[in-house]
Amino acid sequence: MAERRVTGQPVLATRGLSRNFGGLAAVRNVSIALHQGELHAVIGPNGAGKTTLVNMLSGDIRPTAGEIALNGRQVGGEPAHRLARLGIGRSFQRTNIFTSLSVLENARLAAQGVGAARSGPDGKTWAEADFVTQARAALARVGLAEVAARTAGALSHGEQRQLEIAMTLASHPKVLLLDEPLAGMGPEESERMTTLLKGLAQEHAILLIEHDMDFVFAVADWMTVMAEGTVIAEGKPETIRANTAVQDAYLGGHA
Ligand SMILES: Nc1ncnc2c1ncn2[C@@H]1O[C@H](COP(=O)(O)OP(=O)(O)OP(=O)(O)O)[C@@H](O)[C@H]1O
Ligand SMILES: [Mg+2]
Repeated sequence: MAERRVTGQPVLATRGLSRNFGGLAAVRNVSIALHQGELHAVIGPNGAGKTTLVNMLSGDIRPTAGEIALNGRQVGGEPAHRLARLGIGRSFQRTNIFTSLSVLENARLAAQGVGAARSGPDGKTWAEADFVTQARAALARVGLAEVAARTAGALSHGEQRQLEIAMTLASHPKVLLLDEPLAGMGPEESERMTTLLKGLAQEHAILLIEHDMDFVFAVADWMTVMAEGTVIAEGKPETIRANTAVQDAYLGGHA
């Protein structure tokens, strides 16, 4: 444990988290901790349970057993809209935008979806203009300010993934759960995303699922390796790279 980079109370932590689908134990007894300022990558082969883990953390599915604590408060089993308001933002493994709407409209709807039931800094209810302001700020953060008026479906695949991150940011989350944000990206787009995520990791606790090992080892501060629903290793990237069980289960030629 001494090798951990960030200490103190985790922003988001699980204990013994499990989820069954019928007879299948998709996630078994997983205990992980996400810290502010830390980019925490979860890797593992297809079907390891990574997305199921994120779905429980975001409230999209209920755990079968175990606990989830957000800043020390038990939130396991709370629905997604409540967890979003409490500061958990997520992006999806498959692109999840409204292609016929403008880039700005997508970001505004994301801000509004979470903000509508939350009052603003002065105690007043958010107004339409606030959501637009938040949306524009989120687009600027990911580098899409100049294409705000374009139809989202006309963006490149990489830009669409950036828009997804902006939509996640528009509600001012403390935790970012990012399920394969690089999927399908070219090298240039990946590089832009790498820079963006490194910056975002300064201000958020990030859980990142990713199959691209070059990318993971370049950005992760901490790694959790899953296989068949369980955690088989965790540690700093250099520790994971040297772990023979991980190499056997997953890394193959990458290690
Ligand atoms: N809604 C569901 N109903 C039934 N089985 C499910 C459901 N969601 C996931 N599973 C199963 O749970 C296991 C874990 O799936 P999960 O999607 O979490 O894996 P993953 O690690 O994200 O894989 P990938 O890298 O392919 O995205 C798989 O065997 C999958 O088929
Ligand atoms: Mg998945």
